[in-house]
Amino acid sequence: MPIEFNTALNNPSYAITALQSKADAMIAAGHPLINATIGDPKDDTPMDIQDALRKSFNGTTFSQYPIHGGKPSLLTSISDWAKRHHQCTLDPARHVLACNGTKEALFSLPLVFDFTDRCVLIPSLSYPVYAHSVDYLGIESHSLPLRFDNGFLPDLAAIPPEILQRTQLFYFNSPHNPTTAVASRLYLNELLDLAEQYQFFVCSDEFYNELYDTEVPASVLDFDSPYWICTRSLSKRSHMTGYRSGAILSKNEELISKLKKLRSPMGVGTPSFIQDAAAWAWNDDAHVNALRELYKAKRKKLHAALKKANLEVFGGNTGFTMWIKSQEFESSELLSEWFLSKHILVTPGTVFGCDGNPYIRLVYCLKNDTLDELCDRLI
Ligand SMILES: Cc1ncc(COP(=O)(O)O)c(C=O)c1O
Repeated sequence: MPIEFNTALNNPSYAITALQSKADAMIAAGHPLINATIGDPKDDTPMDIQDALRKSFNGTTFSQYPIHGGKPSLLTSISDWAKRHHQCTLDPARHVLACNGTKEALFSLPLVFDFTDRCVLIPSLSYPVYAHSVDYLGIESHSLPLRFDNGFLPDLAAIPPEILQRTQLFYFNSPHNPTTAVASRLYLNELLDLAEQYQFFVCSDEFYNELYDTEVPASVLDFDSPYWICTRSLSKRSHMTGYRSGAILSKNEELISKLKKLRSPMGVGTPSFIQDAAAWAWNDDAHVNALRELYKAKRKKLHAALKKANLEVFGGNTGFTMWIKSQEFESSELLSEWFLSKHILVTPGTVFGCDGNPYIRLVYCLKNDTLDELCDRLI
């Protein structure tokens, strides 16, 4: 019998390739390009986190396998944080798991369920990992249209009941990547009511939740329900993208215990010295407040420049991405080309799904001088 590879691997990958090769040609021709496609902060990781990391690393004289679900001190810091910020009471041992960044946790989550005759719901514009997971695992999924008219949130009333009856998992993301849409408390309430009525889990990916302008975005942590799984990441709010640390939280003890079992043989444990730095980061609010202010200032500057350039921004008050369109360009690709003509590489909205036209996503976790330069190039 011939070797058969997973046919989902034949699907085209994250398709910014054509634009990227034009950008590479520009760099080769000596044009300084600003890459505004990747949400990987360019400002330093807060010094106290670096210190916590070094202190723990230096105190380690021999290498040991990490505790894959998270050291008790880390789990306690996560549950303390949830209590402090959302008055959410979680038992560190029964309701919290550490993960090696939320990407792997989101990807592997469907493995915990049986999908015979069941399906997953994914918004039509999404972090691509959700769709990759269900494709690779051969799980049936349904795309929920995201449109400007609905504030780029799935229209819950429009989901056919026969689909809801078979739904096992709903990947939900607010503040949303790429559109920056923020679900209200009322919306989350309706979503969790639906989850209870039809018996499915809402996986609420809340990785931008702590970087906002004025109002704390609503969170499933504010709800006393066993139907949510919340993922939180230290990547953005603590500038720890490279250190890989996140949290999985749920009031559903059975789910956490199954996840613990599932994740045990997967090799996803974060090195112990990073877990120590992560515990420090969850326990500290000051550095998050400082980063929130940093992005508020960057956001203000960028908003003004985009306005001057006659570009329209949807939302844009959370995280460090902007969802932008122009009256002049009818497609994401054309608008991306316009940005590239200014030597700025952005992501066409269509990379995130079929409803991405005519938007582009611009990421601004850049150093201030680069952001100033980007703003100058726009005008
Ligand atoms: C919506 C969303 N969720 C989760 C992640 C994964 O973040 P991390 O693995 O760094 O925690 C990202 C990364 O950019 C993202 O955009």
